[in-house]
Amino acid sequence: MARIAIFASGNGSNFESLVKYFSNDKINKVTILICNKKNAFVIERAKRLDIPYEYVKYVKGDIQDAEEKIFGILKKNKINVIFLAGFMKILTAKFLQVVSIPIINIHPSLLPKYKGVDAIEKAFNSSATKIGITIHYVSEKVDSGEIILQKSIPINRDNGLKFIEQEVHKIEHHWYPIVAKKICDKINKEE
Ligand code: GRF
Repeated sequence: MARIAIFASGNGSNFESLVKYFSNDKINKVTILICNKKNAFVIERAKRLDIPYEYVKYVKGDIQDAEEKIFGILKKNKINVIFLAGFMKILTAKFLQVVSIPIINIHPSLLPKYKGVDAIEKAFNSSATKIGITIHYVSEKVDSGEIILQKSIPINRDNGLKFIEQEVHKIEHHWYPIVAKKICDKINKEE
């Protein structure tokens, strides 16, 4: 059984799509949400969906302390895979090494284009004809790990940025759970 931790900092729509998808899964379980923002809407979603959560405070300049707490939570909950879903903190190389379980991220651009924040807006304001998402393993460098899946749609700028954002989120919500399920099943086979 894959025991999943989801890390998120904000709205949590991807968190919710993962939780709903795995609610019908008898083998894999969304076990915990880890959130670094006390007032993030994702915490409301976790309460509503009955998923335990832990708030981990990142005190400025002391990432190590936060990561040690996260490590403890992962151990306590016997987590064997992590999905980042809008987690706005960079995990250190040391953390990745010590945790040594698969960590996966979703990014709203066709990487390597538009790494970091405001990726959809950057694509919208460019001359690109396509926009999309990337699901990838997390590595030391932000938005740079091995790519698992990319999906794209044409950019139609007539309906504005908000509309494109919604379209991109729709493909995220569709594909992230499917990829997550495949990764969990692979973990189960290897166990
Ligand atoms: C998504 O666009 C995801 O790709 C990016 O952060 C956003 C999170 O959205 N990493 P939400 O909090 O899941 O609604």
